[in-house]
Amino acid sequence: MEYKKNKKVLKLEKALKKLNIKYSLIEHEPIKTVEEGLKFLGIKPENGVSTLLLKVDDSFCLVFRRDDHRLDYGKIKKHLKIQNVRVANAKEIEEQLGYKEIGYVSLYNPKFKPLMDESLFEVDYLYGGSGSPNFDLKIKPGDLQKLTKAQKADIAGEKINYNYTVTMNKTIKGKYTILNGFTPSGSGEMHIGNYFGAIAPFFEMAKKADKVYTFIADLHALTTVQDQKELQHNVESLVLSYLSFGIDPKKFIFYRQSDIGLHPELQTILNNITPIGLIKRCHAYKDKLEKGFDPKKVNMGLFNYPILQAADILMYDADYVPVGEDQKQHVEVTREIGQYFNKTYGQTFKIPEVYIRKEAARLVGTDGRRKMSKSLGNVISVFSDEKVIKKQIMGCFTDPKRIHSDDPGRVEGNPIFIYHDLINDNKAEVEDLKKRYKAGKVGDVEVKERLFKALLRKFSQERKRYSQLKNDPEKIKKILEKGAKQARKVAEKKMMLVRDKIGITNKYSFFKY
Ligand code: ADP
Ligand code: TRP
Repeated sequence: MEYKKNKKVLKLEKALKKLNIKYSLIEHEPIKTVEEGLKFLGIKPENGVSTLLLKVDDSFCLVFRRDDHRLDYGKIKKHLKIQNVRVANAKEIEEQLGYKEIGYVSLYNPKFKPLMDESLFEVDYLYGGSGSPNFDLKIKPGDLQKLTKAQKADIAGEKINYNYTVTMNKTIKGKYTILNGFTPSGSGEMHIGNYFGAIAPFFEMAKKADKVYTFIADLHALTTVQDQKELQHNVESLVLSYLSFGIDPKKFIFYRQSDIGLHPELQTILNNITPIGLIKRCHAYKDKLEKGFDPKKVNMGLFNYPILQAADILMYDADYVPVGEDQKQHVEVTREIGQYFNKTYGQTFKIPEVYIRKEAARLVGTDGRRKMSKSLGNVISVFSDEKVIKKQIMGCFTDPKRIHSDDPGRVEGNPIFIYHDLINDNKAEVEDLKKRYKAGKVGDVEVKERLFKALLRKFSQERKRYSQLKNDPEKIKKILEKGAKQARKVAEKKMMLVRDKIGITNKYSFFKY
């Protein structure tokens, strides 16, 4: 897909051309956060530049800072000889710069002569906002200064640590329980985007947890999958993939949501203490309406989705629910529902904390543009046949400007190197390939073949388990039965308490003989 350049991008290009400045525009799907953008494009934080509008005393000032440093407001005050400084609010940004949505503010705002942090001059290239969520401008620091007439100043504050590796974004002490559900709404066949975005962070967190509830949310999938064979296939391959990553039977309780009939019972009870307004605000439902989905086609399953999710969570007294940004709201709703219940009926549920996987940024697909996604056919699979994986890797987009293998190539933002960085455990090999690629001394085919080998190396144990389990359905059945039994035991105990609290009990006077 080609994105259209908006007026701001065209204006920027015009100014760049007028000054004869060399630049490139990197095209990508819309990106919401700096971190997501950096990871998506494979850019190091020191090469990213953020544009910030500051309110300084009675006027405004635009600053450029490197993405790996905060600003030092003390230094800014001193430099500008002012008393007050703060980041402008959304209304001020709209008035001054004309942006309703922030996050991709153009580096080129001729109304201002910006302050440019000195550290920006330490790198060869910078990537920054173009004025469109679909393009990033790549430019040399000196040229950015020329374009914007920026004043150089030492305004950098403390360093920001970006978590590229799979680590927790806060330290949790003591024993704790985590819980997570996976919806089999897709085909369930894992690709490396799912792995690095969702599976790996969850397993990493699970290592430190005391107890882990994890389940296949098949009832949730019914909101969109309404075909018997399709759902069955999705569940089977999700179970198979999940188990192949290796679960520790001592701490994992792994089950199918539909095996625990108490989830829908708890949902029915929670329905009665959940204000409609709370659910109307949820994105599961709102997004569909905003995307022009016919409100008549929104089923009650979708509307009630967050209440079933609340039941899934509250049932097991989870301390943390590790999810991606898109599920944050559902966990917040769960907290509210839990609190309403506790207030109405007395302490019953533990109120869980949401644990956002900061590192779960989107991995770019093999088309080099959009997020890796099964439905877009731009994936590299984890468990498919070697032949299939090889074909996926060989078809991967690299550097379109490189026609012959002796042309120097671009490494940053090149998907094949983003994958190498994630997958290839032989770091010396990756560095060597990068060096040779930049110098035009290695062909795409070799880089890809080495990635293929690295992937088979990385997932060798998992792939072995996958083929063994695939041929042993009895074993899978037993694992699911065991998990259901364990989960049911906990759920039954909780439901006894819930029923008792609400007055559905066997303590009626006519039972007392
Ligand atoms: P798909 O887009 O292939 O259908 P899903 O939407 O089923 O994948 O995603 C399952 C999980 O994997 C989600 O938690 C999602 O955040 C994660 N995920 C999917 N694609 C990516 C990607 N390209 N990068 C990072 N995480 C991803
Ligand atoms: N809604 C979640 C998703 O689509 C899946 C899910 C269902 C879940 N119940 C849950 C996640 C409880 C965490 C906790 O990804």
